[in-house]
Amino acid sequence: MSSNGNEGVNAAKRAAAYAAVEAHAGEGMRVGVGSGSTVVFAAERLGQLAKEHGWTSVVCVPTSFQSQQLIVEAGLVLSDLNQTPELDVAFDGADEIDGELNAIKGGGAAHTQEKLVAANAKTLILLVDESKDTGALGTKWAVPIEVLPGAWVVAKAALVKAGATSVVLRMAKAKAGPVVTDNGNFVLDAAFGVIAAADVAGLEAKINNIPGVVDNGLFAGLASEVFIGRSDGSFEVRR
Ligand code: 5RP
Repeated sequence: MSSNGNEGVNAAKRAAAYAAVEAHAGEGMRVGVGSGSTVVFAAERLGQLAKEHGWTSVVCVPTSFQSQQLIVEAGLVLSDLNQTPELDVAFDGADEIDGELNAIKGGGAAHTQEKLVAANAKTLILLVDESKDTGALGTKWAVPIEVLPGAWVVAKAALVKAGATSVVLRMAKAKAGPVVTDNGNFVLDAAFGVIAAADVAGLEAKINNIPGVVDNGLFAGLASEVFIGRSDGSFEVRR
């Protein structure tokens, strides 16, 4: 893609993230900060708003090493779920969304911590560019599944039995070895074909029931709103 194409995608991500933070963030809020390239814009806008308005009591809980860095760089207060177990709002990206606000996450291998933070927030707001709005989950993305390193072979076999048509151990760039999550685990990417919205919650639970699975990247019914940005800088909110 040309640099213009990347600029368009970044404009879409910025539009979604800025609008969501402007609509949902405020002084004194406890905020979950997701992971990925779209959330960079959310942390940036949250930091700007805190400075502009003199907010001193916004507390942020990260979902990865990356988002810890984003929070610190934005000049925001860093916490964790043990110190701040109830969050007002969480902002996060997604790899794919459907019409019912279900999502596939985990492109950055951070979905376990992202789901933990989202599940403990009153409101989860997803931020995506329009390419993620595919109509149904599984159209472009496999389901990322965090597994214990000693369980990836047996978990892979169990996923095939559970209906996966392909299961791949995610490898680091240059195939230097498997991707290792912030929790020290591996990631399997399992394709299940196109997943009807009505089947997302059942599949999420079925995958998590496999021994050795820590959590998977299906987010069924967790999001309250999705901000969908477009390359012309406009956005749409799906509720
Ligand atoms: C990380 C994630 C990300 O939120 C997801 O991959 C979207 O990333 P980006 O905003 O870079 O497209 O789930 O585990």
